[in-house]
Parts: sequence; C-alpha cells; structure tokens
Amino acid sequence: MTQKISLTRYLVEQQRMDGHIPSQLRLLLEVVARACKSISQAVNKGALGEVMGSAHSENIQGEMQKKLDIIANEVLIEANEWGGHLAAMASEEMEGIYVVPNRYPQGEYLLLFDPLDGSSNIEVNVSIGTIFSVLLKPEGAGVSEQDFLQSGAKQVAAGYCVYGPQTTLVLTVGDGVAMFTLDREQGSFILTEENVMIPEDTQEFAINMSNMRHWDAPVKRYIDECLEGKAGPRGKDFNMRWVASMVADVHRILTRGGVFLYPWDKREPEKPGKLRLMYEANPMSWLIEQAGGAATNGKQRILDIEPTKLHERVSVMLGSKNEVDRATRYHGEAA
Ligand code: AHG
Ligand code: MN
Ligand code: MN
Repeated sequence: MTQKISLTRYLVEQQRMDGHIPSQLRLLLEVVARACKSISQAVNKGALGEVMGSAHSENIQGEMQKKLDIIANEVLIEANEWGGHLAAMASEEMEGIYVVPNRYPQGEYLLLFDPLDGSSNIEVNVSIGTIFSVLLKPEGAGVSEQDFLQSGAKQVAAGYCVYGPQTTLVLTVGDGVAMFTLDREQGSFILTEENVMIPEDTQEFAINMSNMRHWDAPVKRYIDECLEGKAGPRGKDFNMRWVASMVADVHRILTRGGVFLYPWDKREPEKPGKLRLMYEANPMSWLIEQAGGAATNGKQRILDIEPTKLHERVSVMLGSKNEVDRATRYHGEAA
C-alpha cells in the first residue's frame, strides 16, 4: 500500500529537503490549513448552522457582507493571532491591518486573505473558497500598512482552499504547486497531486460575458475570436465556463487548463478592475506561474505590480500561457 502523505509530513519534508520553509512558516501554513478546515465545517452545515444569509453590513469595498464572510474572517484571525508566527494580518473584510495583540509574541510574517471568495455562491451551494498570501515583514520596529505594500513576486507562500464537493487545499512555497484533499474521517489534508502543470494551450475561457458591452477593445477582440470558433482566426472551437467564484475558476484551470479574465471595464472606469491585487490576484497569479501558466493585467506581469494601497484592484488575465500571452499582446497592439 502506498503511504499517504499528510500536509504536516509534506511541510516537514519540504523544510528538510531544501530548507526553504523555515519553522515559523511551516507553523503558519499548518494554522491556515486548520482554519480552513473549520471554515469548511461551517460551510458544510449550510442552513443547519445559522451561517447563511446577509450580515447586513458593508465592507470597505462597499460590498454587502454575508454571515460566512465574517465567520471565515474571524476564524482566520483567531487561529493565527496567538502562535507567534505573525506580525499582522490583512483581509478583504477589514479596512485596516490587524496587528497581533501585544499579549502574544510577534513573528516575522504578514498574512493576507480573502476569507471567503465567491460569497454570491454561498446560498446556491456552489464552490467557494479561502485565498491567502504570505509576505515577510520588512526589517524594522513595529508593523504598518506600508509593510504590506510589496509586489506579488515577494510572496513566500500562497494558496487557497476550495470548499466544493471536496475540500481541497492548494499551496505553493515557490517550489511548484501541490494539492491536498481533506480526509474528513482523519481530519487531515492528504497530498493528492504534486507538481501541478497547466497545459500551454486551451480551448476553454472564463469571463463574465454579461459585461461584454463594457469591455475594452483588446478584450473584445480576444473573446470575439474565441467565439468565432473553427471558422475564425483561431481555427478551433472554444468552450466557456464561469463559476463566479475565482477560487473555483482557478481550481479548474490548475486541473485542466483554461484562461480566466476579469478585465477592467467601463462600468467604473476609475477602478483598475474588480478583483483585489493583494489577496486575490497575487496569490492566484503565483500559483498559476508555478504551474507553468501566466498572469498579467494586460500590460504587465501581475506579480511585478508595486501596490500603492492594501485594497488595490487590478485587471486580471491568467491561465494557460499561450492564451494569456495572446490576450496581453492584443493589449499591446491596441496601445
Ligand atoms: P468575493 O466574493 O470575495 O467578493 O469575490 C467575488 C469575485 C470573484 O470570486 C469572482 O470571480 C467575481 O467576483 C464574480 O464576479 P461577477 O459577480 O461579475 O460574476
Ligand atoms: Mn474574492
Ligand atoms: Mn471575499
């Protein structure tokens, strides 16, 4: 019988092998995984657990918060604040940063998260998830919001946990992408896929087509050509998928390839896009690149963007390399 490798064992072995997971980071990842397990429990209870519906409050993004957005946020904070591995946290659901209270030791890492991605899918029983990104706190006393404003290229770990028919944790520490499936009987995440690679070509795209009339010309050109199918310039038919949970759309792409776009559009022209750079686009872009894919905002690599604010938004195109390169080239040609 082949031995099952738990997340704990995987991390210990990674630490031993090349030493690029220091023990504090290993603890951090274990704690995030534990928090995801408990969010998964809450998600699973659904209507039986008083976790459904609106919290009747708004977050800093001006979006209505669901009860589960707030529960997931609290679970992540409570799990992570006392272990001594973190200096501070930042979340989609909190305006400012959350500094580890001084009754606990302060660590050297910064954790950012979208506690619950795809909130509009909670009630309809469609996959949702938690997305996280880990940075090192720059040298110096104390911790401030400024310390978080680092490009995605500086991440030391990133991942997500998708709560779907299975609960799957997907992780990178810069050494490829690994997937772990939650074994509910054992209560542990088991390694089920290693060295995940995305095919460079694909015939599947994901975009919210209802925004088509608001798109910019290069996005319209790229999608129009896909829609023309075999008879068009691409010479092949395309299929479309849109879960409306980024976490589930990215999970599909890591599983079988594809391209995901949430571009800037004319609805709110002053906003660079809908998705948030620091805790949505950056961690997902790093996972995609680690799996051989690409991620840009149409002009540059997402991981190279120097953030200017915590809740900064960004236009996103990610997935199979040749498709992202093509869509990026169309932006260049239009400019
Ligand atoms: P969140 O639930 O964290 O606010 O994020 C939702 C995001 C993302 O997951 C998804 O891709 C997109 O919003 C869905 O947008 P549409 O409503 O345009 O489909
Ligand atoms: Mn989100
Ligand atoms: Mn969210």
